[in-house]
Amino acid sequence: MAKLKANINVDTLNLNLPVLEGTVGYPAIDVSSLHSHGIKTFDPGFSSTAECTSAITFVDGGKGELLHRGHPIEQLAEKCEFLDIAYLLFNGELPNSREKTIFTNSIKEHSLLHDQLTNIFRGFRRDAHPMAVMVGVVGSMSAFYFDETMKVSNLNHRKLSAQRLIAKVPTIAAWSFAYSNGSPFVYPKEELSYSENFLNMMFSGPNVKYLQNPIITKAFEKILILHADHEQNASTSTVRLVGSSGANPFACIAAGIASLWGPAHGGANEATLKMLGEIKNERRIGEYIKRAKDKSDNFRLMGFGHRIYKNKDPRSIIMKATCYEVLDELGLRNDPIFKLALKLEKIALEDDYFVKKKLYPNVDFYSGIVMKALGIPNSMFTAVFALARTAGWVAHWNEMLTNEKSKIGRPRQIYTGKLRRDVPNL
Ligand code: CMC
Repeated sequence: MAKLKANINVDTLNLNLPVLEGTVGYPAIDVSSLHSHGIKTFDPGFSSTAECTSAITFVDGGKGELLHRGHPIEQLAEKCEFLDIAYLLFNGELPNSREKTIFTNSIKEHSLLHDQLTNIFRGFRRDAHPMAVMVGVVGSMSAFYFDETMKVSNLNHRKLSAQRLIAKVPTIAAWSFAYSNGSPFVYPKEELSYSENFLNMMFSGPNVKYLQNPIITKAFEKILILHADHEQNASTSTVRLVGSSGANPFACIAAGIASLWGPAHGGANEATLKMLGEIKNERRIGEYIKRAKDKSDNFRLMGFGHRIYKNKDPRSIIMKATCYEVLDELGLRNDPIFKLALKLEKIALEDDYFVKKKLYPNVDFYSGIVMKALGIPNSMFTAVFALARTAGWVAHWNEMLTNEKSKIGRPRQIYTGKLRRDVPNL
C-alpha cells in the first residue's frame, strides 16, 4: 500500500505531513513538526490524538476487540492466570514454565511490605477511603524502595521496581481496607497464589480462617485479568506523563491510582453499585433512565458507555458470564441487586437514547456485582481495579522509557485569558 500523506493548508501555508501506520488500526497524521510553523493542534479529551506508539495492547472499539501483545482477551481469560498476563504485558511474550516459576517466586518474595510502612497507614484517618490510603502508601514506597542506586534508565532496575509494585500493591490494598475497618493486618503467605493471597488478606483474621473456594478465586482472577490493561486511558496516560519527566515508578503509579479513582474511569464500578442501591426498586428504573437522558441533570447511568467501545465491551461479556457462575455458586441468583441490574440493562439496551448513542454496559457494570457477591465492600472495588491495572501501568512506564524517542510530555494550550496589562498601584 502506498504511504499515506496528509495535506494541510493553513491560510497560505501548505504542508505535507507524514501519516503513521501501526500493524493494525487507524492511521495517524504526524503533526509533531507543526509547532515549528507556529501552529498547534486542538483535541480536548485526546479523542483524535495518538500520544505514543505502543506494542502492548490493541483495542478495536468498532469490532469490540481487545488484544494484549496480539492475544485476544477471551483466550487469555480462559487459559491464563493473572501473573501470566502481567508477565506478558511487561515482557512481550507469555512465560514458559521456567520463566513463570521465577516470576511467581519473585512476586511472592516481594509481597511483604517494609515494616515501617505500617506507620504510613496509621497516619490516615480511620475512615479514610482505601483509594486515598493507596495513593499515599504507594507514593511513599519511593522512600523505601527507591534511592540513587535505582536508575529508571536501567532495565533491570525497572524490572525490579515493576515486580515490587505488582507484588506489594495487593498487600497495600488489603491493608487499606483492614485499616479502615480496624482489623489487624494479615500478612501474605508463601503457599497461596496471587489471588488467594489477596482474598486471604482481606477476609481472614486472628480468629477467622478464610476458606478458599476455587470458583471464587477463578472469578477474582478474571476480574484482575480483564482489568490488567486497556491502552492509553486516563490513568495509563497519567503514568506515562508523570514518568516522562524521569520520576520514580512509585510516584508514577501513585499518580495512576489517583487518576483511576474518578467515577468516569475506575470509580465506575463503585458508582454503579451506589446507583443500584439508590434505584433500589425496579419500578424506579424509568425515573433514573429519564434523568440520564436529561441534559440539565448531570446524572449518568454508571457502568454504561465507553470512549472507545461503540458496539460491545468484550470484557463485559466475559464478566457477565462470570457473574452468573459466581451467583450460582453462592446461591445468589435471586439477589435483588443483580435482578435490578439485569432489568436496568434490558431497559437501557432497548431505549432509543442509549441505542442511538451506542451506550452499552461496560466491564464495570458487572465487575461491581461480582465483587459484591464475593463479599468485597464497595469502597474496595476501585482498589481491586488499581491492583489489576498496576500490571498494565508498569508495562507502559517501562515501554515509554525503553523508547529512545520518548520525551517529556508538554502539551500546549489555546490561551483565552486577558491580554498583557499593567499591575495597578495598590
Ligand atoms: N449515561 C447517559 N448518557 C451518557 C452516558 C451515560 N453513562 N455516557 C455517555 N452519555 C452521553 C453523553 O451525555 C453524550 O451525549 P451528547 O452527545 O448528547 O452530549 C454522549 O453520550 C457521548 O458521551 P461523552 O461523555 O462525550 O463520551 P465519552 O467518550 O467522553 O465518555 C464515558 C465515556 C465512559 C466517560 C461515559 O460514557 C460515562 O461517563 N459513562 C459512565 C461512567 C462509566 O461507566 N465509566 C467506566 C468506563 S469503563 C472503565 C474504564 O475503562 O475506565
